[in-house]
Amino acid sequence: MYPLRRNRRLRTSEAIRSLVRETVITPNDFLVPLFVVEGNGIKEEIPSMPNYYRFSLDLLPLEVKTLWALGLKSVLLFVKVPDTLKDNSGTEALNPDGLMQRAIKTVKDAVPEMLVMTDVALDPYSNFGHDGIVANGQIVNDDTNAILAEMSLSHAHAGADFVAPSDMMDGRIFEIRTLLEDEGFHTTGIMSYSAKYASAFYGPFRDALDSAPADLQDIPKDKKTYQMDFANRKEAIKESRMDIEEGADIVMVKPGLAYLDIVRDIREAIDVPIAVYQVSGEYAMLKAAAAKGWLDHDAVMLEQITAIKRAGAHIIASYFAKDIVKLLG
Ligand code: PBG
Repeated sequence: MYPLRRNRRLRTSEAIRSLVRETVITPNDFLVPLFVVEGNGIKEEIPSMPNYYRFSLDLLPLEVKTLWALGLKSVLLFVKVPDTLKDNSGTEALNPDGLMQRAIKTVKDAVPEMLVMTDVALDPYSNFGHDGIVANGQIVNDDTNAILAEMSLSHAHAGADFVAPSDMMDGRIFEIRTLLEDEGFHTTGIMSYSAKYASAFYGPFRDALDSAPADLQDIPKDKKTYQMDFANRKEAIKESRMDIEEGADIVMVKPGLAYLDIVRDIREAIDVPIAVYQVSGEYAMLKAAAAKGWLDHDAVMLEQITAIKRAGAHIIASYFAKDIVKLLG
């Protein structure tokens, strides 16, 4: 009771504030997304993601070494596939000498201790920009799963430590886990995008990989038949539980900031590590507002990342990872 209790006593200086702070950000919190392209000498900025780049394989080692030197020890790989290699069933995804497979080896050669996670979904390889095979205006579930499992196996063969299925097909974790076990990849992990919402925050990412759903007649123009309805909470717990039963080692909530209630729900309901993906649209919003001088970039970045961890994230996939680690020194 006041004045015996004055809450401001614990806020009087930075020394006492840091002593009682509940949530502290460290380099260990982050998973760094990396975009890879074919070619040579390419480090191209993504227009809707200022200060974020696509790298060709020759420039990837330098970037990975820079991350390692900053204490960032995990990367999540995405590839931008040439249009000529895209088809409905993502054939190129299984090419043992494909861009993803070479990117995995490139990172492992550059920094063998770096944890390599890979995106598993058909969209960068699909001429329709969908995460699964399209037939009769639908995204086919079970046939897609068979390809996702083969794709995961191919990444494991190339040296991936974890595969990260981001497609939201039903039962894909079971298919992937079963094939990895059958083929002897017992320690290859699965980080499942379990609660992935059909979100408009993915726009800049789809620019980065040229992977937006095609605007064609008879083809769904959005991903609402497989990604979750953003109005739903309970479904996120169900999705996470099912993925864990099927063999997921880590579950994910995506996007981040607008979904922290979901992160907290899942944190309370389940006991595997939770990753949160602070997605491209979240990054773009802050970059744009900061460029206009309307928000303090570094202060808002730290506040947002801290909020994600405070909500219950063990792992944060973020395009800000490098910036924030530099900021924290
Ligand atoms: C592809 C995938 C997407 C993202 C990660 N993996 C886009 C999508 O589902 O359309 C989004 C990441 C971001 O926006 O930063 N399956």
